[in-house]
Amino acid sequence: MCGIVGYIGERQAQPILLNCLHRLEYRGYDSCGIAVLGGAVEIYKDAVRVKALANTAPSLNGIAGIGHTRWATHGEPSQANAHPHCDCTGKIAVVHNGVINNFQKLRQQLASEGHNFVSETDTEVIPHLIEKYYDGDLAKAVEAALHEVEGSYAIIALVSGESRLVVARKDGPLVIGVGDRENFIASDVPAMLDYTNRVIYLEDDDIGIVSPDNIEVRRHGVEVDRKEHKISWSVEDAQKAGYEHFMLKEIHEQPKVIRDTIAGYVSATEKGADLALLGDVGLEGMLILACGTSYHAALIGKYILEELVRVPVKAELASEFNYYGHTPVRSRAIVITQSGETADVIKTIRRMREAGCWVVAVTNVVGSTASRIADQIIYTRAGPEISVAATKSFIAQLMALYWLALPYSKIDIRKLDNLITGLRQLPGKVQQVLDNESAIAELARQLASCENVFFIGRGINFPVALEGALKLKEVSYIHAEGYAAGELKHGPFALLGSNTPVVAIVAQDNTYEPMLTNIKEVKARRSPVIAVVEEGDEVIGELVDSVITVPKVDAIFSPVVNTVALQLLAYYTAKHRGCPVDFPRNLAKSVTVE
Ligand code: G6P
Repeated sequence: MCGIVGYIGERQAQPILLNCLHRLEYRGYDSCGIAVLGGAVEIYKDAVRVKALANTAPSLNGIAGIGHTRWATHGEPSQANAHPHCDCTGKIAVVHNGVINNFQKLRQQLASEGHNFVSETDTEVIPHLIEKYYDGDLAKAVEAALHEVEGSYAIIALVSGESRLVVARKDGPLVIGVGDRENFIASDVPAMLDYTNRVIYLEDDDIGIVSPDNIEVRRHGVEVDRKEHKISWSVEDAQKAGYEHFMLKEIHEQPKVIRDTIAGYVSATEKGADLALLGDVGLEGMLILACGTSYHAALIGKYILEELVRVPVKAELASEFNYYGHTPVRSRAIVITQSGETADVIKTIRRMREAGCWVVAVTNVVGSTASRIADQIIYTRAGPEISVAATKSFIAQLMALYWLALPYSKIDIRKLDNLITGLRQLPGKVQQVLDNESAIAELARQLASCENVFFIGRGINFPVALEGALKLKEVSYIHAEGYAAGELKHGPFALLGSNTPVVAIVAQDNTYEPMLTNIKEVKARRSPVIAVVEEGDEVIGELVDSVITVPKVDAIFSPVVNTVALQLLAYYTAKHRGCPVDFPRNLAKSVTVE
């Protein structure tokens, strides 16, 4: 969480910093600020969004600067707590993403040495530590300061009198963008795509010294070589392309995302489904770990693998798994993380690897921490996902899981062929759901005035109910709960009634009959029911208040079409309620703290 940016070159820094920050807002957006290095260091910051800051900011003259967009951890969103933070002299400014664990101790120590603190943040100790060690060489002072710091960080520092920026990272994302007589720094690639597609990824403990025409990377005082990479994402990928919100654009990109993700695996294996992406690792005894929406993909992955490969699989929340207190006994794990930066997931990967496990990371971000520390990487090809609510990255994760399972499948060869055909038809099926958008938008009007909504599903569609509820609550602020349909009567029934709609996800598999029973039970408690049903179903329509029809697919692929329908339902409900769809309050896209 939090986004940091830096610029040094020949152009005025302020507009570039603000533009990059605007693109990074998905990482946090409760306050923001910039520092520009002219004759002196000038700072402008406030507890507002980037656009508002840009509207009120005075013109700060300078060709180097840093910026920050915040997701508060230490201290409420306020002007004082917004970054950049300064030392006592106001000559050193720092932006930081991460958490300094020992900041209390450092702060007391620095205060006793005469340093004056003006914010509640953990970050503020960093410029003061740099000040303590500064004797004319910013890079050396940063290195000495970070020696005392425990925790995670990606930082950019500047000092008046030196025309260079110093960057450092440990367990926090940081990318240097390479330009022509100018260089950029950002937490993430999409922030810089307007200016460059050439990037250098720093490793943990690296310190970068960035000037307009040079990038030097040092590790423990010794210069190291860090290769330049070319990014295939385009500027358009990170723009709204005429859609009102990124979430809607990203929902609509899903047919392409499915195609691209599958095509990537076909070219990786060359023979398509004949070759396993996992090589000799296999899927026996797999543990799947993730957080948030990715955890729902993990849960669906468990159903996919158990159904097709017939091996027991466990899906766990990374944030819980990390505190089991015993060494994992399983020898392989798949971790799923869109960003590749989620702190709990990164901790899981490290923990599993230390215990000698083989860890496969399914991630969407090339060069992310997960991609650098896992034993094997399987990329999803969703392109940059900007909206805080994950949509296309989730569907791409499901594609990765199908593609992983199919080659190991123990099902009849004819059925396997049908499934591979079915998988390839999914882009068209998802397009059919998207074509039904206006009907779903109309239904969303009914939900928009509700306070509570339940989502129910069974089997492979139980995680879809969880995801449908998560999407609705995060973007529309309506309290929503996902439940296994059979469990609703064990408590939540007490909340049912005419003001509490239930969204029932009905698949054409062995759960169909019990779902019918569950829907009847709900109707008997007067709750309005919206059912997501497969086309051609003439039974459910008679029982429920409204239906969302999705195209016919094999039941194992039903989470794909059903989820897309629920994404649209959540999006339009939030839109009808006038919510800030792409940037829901209190949330952030990349959660880099535990
Ligand atoms: C945040 C995002 C969610 C995402 C979760 C896990 O909470 O808002 O959309 O599902 O983090 O992120 P990851 O990048 O690990 O998939």
